[in-house]
Amino acid sequence: MVEPILKWAGGKRQLLDALYARFPESYGRYHEPFVGGGALFFDLEPGAGTINDANPRLVSLYERVRDEPDRLIDRLESFDDPEADPDPDLPYAETTQRGREVESYYYQQRARFNDRPYTGAYDPLEEAALLVYLNRTCYNGLYRENADGGFNVPIGRYADPEWVRRDRIRRASGTLGNVEIYNRDFEYVLEAAEPGDLVYLDPPYEPMSPTADFTAYSADGFDRGDQERLIETATTLDDRGVSVIVSNSGVTYDRYVEAGFHVDTVDATRAINSDGDGREAVDEVIATNVPASDRRDVGQRSLSTFEDE
Ligand SMILES: C[S@@+](CC[C@H](N)C(=O)[O-])C[C@H]1O[C@@H](n2cnc3c(N)ncnc32)[C@H](O)[C@@H]1O
Repeated sequence: MVEPILKWAGGKRQLLDALYARFPESYGRYHEPFVGGGALFFDLEPGAGTINDANPRLVSLYERVRDEPDRLIDRLESFDDPEADPDPDLPYAETTQRGREVESYYYQQRARFNDRPYTGAYDPLEEAALLVYLNRTCYNGLYRENADGGFNVPIGRYADPEWVRRDRIRRASGTLGNVEIYNRDFEYVLEAAEPGDLVYLDPPYEPMSPTADFTAYSADGFDRGDQERLIETATTLDDRGVSVIVSNSGVTYDRYVEAGFHVDTVDATRAINSDGDGREAVDEVIATNVPASDRRDVGQRSLSTFEDE
């Protein structure tokens, strides 16, 4: 089992059991078009397939982890404690792009990360190292971009921040080496997936409130039209004999049922509630075209393990 490198909004670690319970007994290659932090992808360690994300810096990081994990580790080791003084040998040591004073190493690195297009030669390894460093030392440890695409999260307060996780990076490198990595729109999967493959779709969730402003939801800019395209993509994959699992917010329940998927709700504590009655109150759904009879039976398997003991 490999663990994710970044903490990412919408991370699926608490949902892993519920997702695995819907996996088909067997499948060909594995595809994850909205990979984000890749909680399921890294845990699963697929032997073949594709991952994709619309965020270019995230995809570039995964390419560096795959191709030069040790150089990435070296770069991370060269970084200083977030509360240390700014490095006088690095640019942007005195002010941010907006002219504010940079009072610590963390804010200096954040200003460097946000300085796009980069001054001088673009160094993807440095950008990847900065993304990991900021993710590990920022407040709440989450990647978030403002409307201009800038990373604006303030410094976190950690007694002993750990931004060089060597084993994790090396293990992730091996897993990333098994798949093709894309930076495209999710519809690439219509070309990539073949009959018998498995696709897990984890889009930015549709907001629960009908009045919620879609564009304000996130810099991902995933709107209602994209949600409709996603259902069409899932339906096309289904027609082609590809296994599909989708997670989304509770408001999409009826649309996935109408499209012919098996839909279950997951309550706020993320325990599965197959009883549709409470669905107005729940946050998430998991929709799949994998019939119950074709699924890995997680309950049965643990029972037989128990009997064997
Ligand atoms: C809910 S997150 C995925 C979380 C992930 N499963 C995890 O465990 O961390 C959704 C991801 O979709 C990406 N995204 C947004 N629009 C996209 C699009 N049109 N095509 C592909 N990816 C997109 C975002 O950059 C974001 O990383």
